[in-house]
Amino acid sequence: MNIAIIYSSRTGNTKTIAESIKEELQNRNIVYFGNATKELPQADIYIIGSWTDKGNATNDIIEVLNKIKNKKIAYFGTAGYGESEEYYKKLFERVKKNIDPSNEILGYFYCQGKMPIQVKEKYEQISQNSENPNLKVAIENFDKALSHPDDKDISNAKEWIRGIVLNKE
Ligand SMILES: Cc1cc2nc3c(=O)[nH]c(=O)nc-3n(C[C@H](O)[C@H](O)[C@H](O)COP(=O)(O)O)c2cc1C
Repeated sequence: MNIAIIYSSRTGNTKTIAESIKEELQNRNIVYFGNATKELPQADIYIIGSWTDKGNATNDIIEVLNKIKNKKIAYFGTAGYGESEEYYKKLFERVKKNIDPSNEILGYFYCQGKMPIQVKEKYEQISQNSENPNLKVAIENFDKALSHPDDKDISNAKEWIRGIVLNKE
């Protein structure tokens, strides 16, 4: 089984998860590891990852997903919000719309990833003129995200991919 790992990462969180997945699969046939390319690398299993950009995968990753037909796909993502499987499920439902039904979806994995400080500054700025309680929650979440992806996220990602790839061999 040839495996391609294709990911997009702006600030390194998703790259960290991609690298830990690669490490876990070091004895397998990884034919491609890196960012999206114009030509889709040929593989049997595609492990596709993206940071969450306004509720979806990034455009380059969506383009990659659109190109894959009759293959096996596992998806991983990082998101600013954590601790909610419900939220991650919704995110994946959106990503899934870009996956052709001819593919077999092996599963998905998300974890939290720290955000740039400007995000917190923006929340704080808005909260000066707003009583919206969601802002407090957003700021608290920002602080929680700072330590992610952490060792537990990495071991969860490894466990996830191990389960998926072993099942297919
Ligand atoms: C412009 C922008 C939009 C984002 N949109 C979302 C979003 O809709 N939902 C979410 O949970 N996180 C969102 N985030 C947070 C990132 O997805 C998160 O920090 C991710 O781990 C970044 O991964 P990276 O380091 O691989 O780039 C956004 C961050 C930025 C900068």
